[in-house]
Amino acid sequence: MSHFLEKETDFSKMVDAHLSRRNFLFGSAAVGAGAFLALNPVAKAIAATVDNTLLNFSAIATSTSDNIVVPKGYNVSNLMSWGDPIFANAPAFNANGQQDSAAQAMQFGDNTDGMSVFPISKDRAILAVNNEYTNYEYLFAHQGKAMTADDVKKAQAAVGITIVEITKQNGQWTMDKNGKANRRITANTEMLVTGPAAGHDLLKTKADPTGKKVLGTFNNCANGETPWGTYLTCEENFNGFFGVENAAEKDVQLTADDKRYGIKAEQSKYQWHNFDERFDLSKNPNEPNRFGWIVEIDPNDPTSTPLKRTALGRFKHENAAIVVNDDGHVVVYLGDDERGEHLYKFVTKNKYQAGNNSANRHLLDEGTLYVAKFNMHADKLEGKGQWLELTYGKNGLTKENGFNSQAEVMIFARRAATQVGATTMDRPEWVAVHPDKKHVFCTLTNNKNRGVKEGQEVGGPNPRAENHYGQIVRWAPTNHDHNSVTFKWDLYLIAGNPTVHKGDLYAGSANINKDNMFNSPDGIGFDKAGRLWIQTDGNYSNEGDFAGQGNNQMLCGDPITGEVRRFLTGPIGCEITGLTFSEDQKTMFIGVQHPSGHFPQGGTHKPRSTIVMISKDDGGVIGS
Ligand code: FEO
Ligand code: CA
Ligand code: CA
Repeated sequence: MSHFLEKETDFSKMVDAHLSRRNFLFGSAAVGAGAFLALNPVAKAIAATVDNTLLNFSAIATSTSDNIVVPKGYNVSNLMSWGDPIFANAPAFNANGQQDSAAQAMQFGDNTDGMSVFPISKDRAILAVNNEYTNYEYLFAHQGKAMTADDVKKAQAAVGITIVEITKQNGQWTMDKNGKANRRITANTEMLVTGPAAGHDLLKTKADPTGKKVLGTFNNCANGETPWGTYLTCEENFNGFFGVENAAEKDVQLTADDKRYGIKAEQSKYQWHNFDERFDLSKNPNEPNRFGWIVEIDPNDPTSTPLKRTALGRFKHENAAIVVNDDGHVVVYLGDDERGEHLYKFVTKNKYQAGNNSANRHLLDEGTLYVAKFNMHADKLEGKGQWLELTYGKNGLTKENGFNSQAEVMIFARRAATQVGATTMDRPEWVAVHPDKKHVFCTLTNNKNRGVKEGQEVGGPNPRAENHYGQIVRWAPTNHDHNSVTFKWDLYLIAGNPTVHKGDLYAGSANINKDNMFNSPDGIGFDKAGRLWIQTDGNYSNEGDFAGQGNNQMLCGDPITGEVRRFLTGPIGCEITGLTFSEDQKTMFIGVQHPSGHFPQGGTHKPRSTIVMISKDDGGVIGS
């Protein structure tokens, strides 16, 4: 029992220390479940005795109200909502769902998700933001019950990415409809495929015999930004946009790989295939292989072609967390958000060259993809692990085992991960690298299949059967080298409900208590000072196992002390997702996705996904 504090009695010294003190994160002795839980009183003792922790705000209570609540001393304002015009000549939003596809193509897309700020000057920046999917009940007056060809085009224009310039005047950021970078990227924007799978037969279609020219991106979940100033958008649940009408009458031969990626020969709820044969599996069986990638976008040039980077593998990408390793190679951590799927990292072949962005621009086309294997020991919530290489010809990725090229290893990365013996995870969502570059955190949001389905044994970083609360795993690469193939891991927190469960892991880890509990951690990110911001996308019923947890929320964690405080609660029905800051860290941008009450306008207004901004009344850094 060593975990957080045992060797340190001087609390203030401890708080000043840095994460490099590895004994703090990774104790020398085993931490059994009981020992982990027994730490609870210690975590409370820190909160009570130390003033100068990272978390200098008063924690707030849970909420079931239809608004956003933040701590005393903070305020909230709206930046933009679904349907807001992003060009000077765009039509105003129509709340009744009666506008056409051309209008939506000039307005902010739906379901705001991952986003990044790219500073231009101290009072001007570019904001790139994902529009994950769209809500037909609000997008159309007929709620999706009487779709037309233009309705499908409108839905395709409501997803993708929105890029806008934002300006700061009188201390407040607003969107600039005249921004030169303003752009919508939709499910119909021309893109190029690059890397090992570009041009492969499995990517060729009737409309694109080259296998390199794809139209669009959709289900863009979270994101990343590169040190060379580009935006990475991550294609997640792309499978749901494909389908077939009257499947029984058609000959659709789905492969085992199609099924592994969730492709189904049935009517899709989005109905795109009824009007756009690109999405009809009976006519274009290869089209789904052109999605599930990381897409790199130059946000500065609205005429630039987005590039699908196949070297980073095809799966249900959540986000892309980038770190420049000390040796110059760029490392990208990647989660595959599906029950029992995997955690990956990509290491570039070439090195980052500061100031040479034309060279850096191609770094993501060549390199090595790895998948994580976590070693497990009974009753231990920490251990070691390895990164297993996903390279054709190695680790059994051979013809005998059904892989014929590096392209196939990338297109069917999930199957490759299984072949090499990767650990099945509890739905990896976002990954975040601590600013010290020595520790990496990943949310494992929940997994009802853990301990139930074959291949998803309880243990290691996935310690609970039928896990509906989630946990955050963290690891330290050996010698702080992100190119190392070994690491040590532990769990930063195990979410749970200590008011419902007692004395077992469903109560949560030591740093979870009745005042900060939550479920289903999803979006995470560090600010420059090393605060870990944690967003939730979970069960907001506020009853049963989730009693007392209220609406989805955002918390802030101190990675050193383990303390977690609730910072924000969202309106009814939403998830909180998307997290970025102004360069001075004095404005925080977060996304309120799919609210179901009347947020943000209140009254009888229909709800709209909205980017909100949080600032401090005293103008200080958020969280300070
Ligand atoms: Fe789009 Fe896994 O969240
Ligand atoms: Ca998510
Ligand atoms: Ca989620």
